[in-house]
Amino acid sequence: MAEGFISDEDIQKVREANDLVAVIGERTPVKQRGRDFWCCCPIHNEKTPSLKIDPAMQLWHCFGCGAGGDVFGYVMKTEDMSFPEAVRRLAERAHIDIASTGTRGGASSSKRARLKDICKETADFYHLQLMRNPAQDAAEARSYLGARGLGGVVPKTWQLGFAPGKGALVRHLSSKGFKADELIEANVAAKGRDGKLRDRFFNRIMFPIFDVQGDCIAFGGRVVGKGEPKYLNSQETPVFHKSEVLYGLHKAKVGMAATGIAVVVEGYTDVIALHEHGVGNAVATLGTALTMKHIRILGRHAQKRIVYLFDGDAAGQRAADRALAFIDESMTPEAGKSKVELCAVTLPDNLDPADFVEKRGAEELKRLIDSAQPLLQYGIDRRIAAHDLSRPEGRTRALSEALAVLAPIKDSLLAKDYAVQIASRVRAREEDVLAQLALLRAPQGYASAEDQSDSSEQPAPAQTAESRFARLSQAEKNRLRFERELLSVLAQHPLVALAHADALAQLQWHDAAHDAIAQSILDTLMQDPGASSGALITNAARLLPQASGILTSSSLAEGQTPDIVAAYLCEELSLGDAEDAVSMLKAQLADPRGMPAEEQELLFESVVGMQRDLTQRRLAHKPLI
Ligand code: UTP
Ligand code: MN
Repeated sequence: MAEGFISDEDIQKVREANDLVAVIGERTPVKQRGRDFWCCCPIHNEKTPSLKIDPAMQLWHCFGCGAGGDVFGYVMKTEDMSFPEAVRRLAERAHIDIASTGTRGGASSSKRARLKDICKETADFYHLQLMRNPAQDAAEARSYLGARGLGGVVPKTWQLGFAPGKGALVRHLSSKGFKADELIEANVAAKGRDGKLRDRFFNRIMFPIFDVQGDCIAFGGRVVGKGEPKYLNSQETPVFHKSEVLYGLHKAKVGMAATGIAVVVEGYTDVIALHEHGVGNAVATLGTALTMKHIRILGRHAQKRIVYLFDGDAAGQRAADRALAFIDESMTPEAGKSKVELCAVTLPDNLDPADFVEKRGAEELKRLIDSAQPLLQYGIDRRIAAHDLSRPEGRTRALSEALAVLAPIKDSLLAKDYAVQIASRVRAREEDVLAQLALLRAPQGYASAEDQSDSSEQPAPAQTAESRFARLSQAEKNRLRFERELLSVLAQHPLVALAHADALAQLQWHDAAHDAIAQSILDTLMQDPGASSGALITNAARLLPQASGILTSSSLAEGQTPDIVAAYLCEELSLGDAEDAVSMLKAQLADPRGMPAEEQELLFESVVGMQRDLTQRRLAHKPLI
């Protein structure tokens, strides 16, 4: 999707018009303590407040999960939005019109309404074709649906339709005054190679896809009977984003609110069959895997649980394995965003959900849904079940594969509980299994999904960074902590940052992320020496998602001023760099093979001189109180 361009002035205007305390307060109760405000962090689950809001700085930081940022970052994190989306949302909140600026790609509300009108008109047209068209192919579609148990009231309830193709839709919509490029943008028509406008769907049974309000925004088209591709779906349009739409949600939301449970299946026809049999809380993804966005959306409607129903056939089992990989990631601290419990169950005997309700009835299905296991347990069970536990090799494989499910959460108490359980099931010693758990590596997948970069130079994701951190020497840990502290103080005090621009440019950052952040701060200040701390942090976070957490993490102690703290940290880090340089030279001196005697002498003298300087500087470098 084209995000469109929002000018820096507009961003600034929107930032100033949205007070952070008020924005957060609209969602979470906020309490004042001294100068600052505190609330429970909406990103990870917690009962006591650890999110601090600095009203003067207009920054927030959670000391529980390390997230932080400005008002845009808050909306991005809690609403799962991109930066431009967050800016637009807050612009709306403050009644600021940023629609007029420049080349804006995001669809205006009138454009969106127009595209929805086209979808509605199209759905009506297709529906009428299915119900009334006397032609042979339409009659075949009707009898196909009837034979599948999708006759009677079903086509009306779900506004099913038939696409005759042959330009019938284009002619119909044109007669209603819709323009060619509008039809293309709504993806109900497409230009052929000859440049002529064609119906996008041809001789298919049409499943209109609705948004949560029940407005039609896209279509899935199934071949009548056998054929490939079985389903053809609308492409992304300004009103249709696959990764955040769930088929049937406009109907299922009531059932979800009532039961607290969301049931996720794979097919449109499964959703319909479940609803028709009284399981009214079912939805399907649109031929894609479930995303974190889906989970958050479902979590808003179902307060207790999200239950995946996997088909018993091979494809369903592959989907289950895919979901496990996804769950691995979703179980990282990031998953705290969804309060609902994720559960899964596989349907027995090769059945899909539609077959199952048909053959065994809704009560049986509801029992199955109630028996769904938490996803971690489900994954462990699946992996253990794949092996023959009567043989030692089978038990060993079962142990290592089941443990691997726990990798992303290996340091949590929950992981230890599960590890103990696994140990008893594969008849291994608890201590051995716990030791093996401790040695697991957390997967790398999580960050690459967020940064969309696979360069191995990329800073590691929080999880891995943490486990890597544990192996560092105390001196190196301190170094990294000081680096973070300095970057954070400077980002929060742009004037102080300006005064220490040299340090930002010259320090030998020991972490690639810190280096990138320092560079970003410099760049922002170079472009605009009057940049606000919000701008410094936002720009850094756009480059590197973890920057906002790092840059909001420092808080000055009573009586400390940012310039004194920054000067101290700069000197500390620069001393460290000088010490590194000296030890490098000393190493060269220790092994001077091939170095002319004269040069050795020079080197020796300069090392002595540097060492003397260093000692002086160290003496003068008084610790902060
Ligand atoms: P299924 O093949 O299980 O579809 O694919 P289904 O809904 O059960 O279809 P019937 O029962 O044979 O009519 C599950 C989902 O995957 C997507 C569709 O969203 C479908 O509902 N899909 C499947 C596609 O997008 N394209 C395809 O070619 C096949
Ligand atoms: Mn099916």
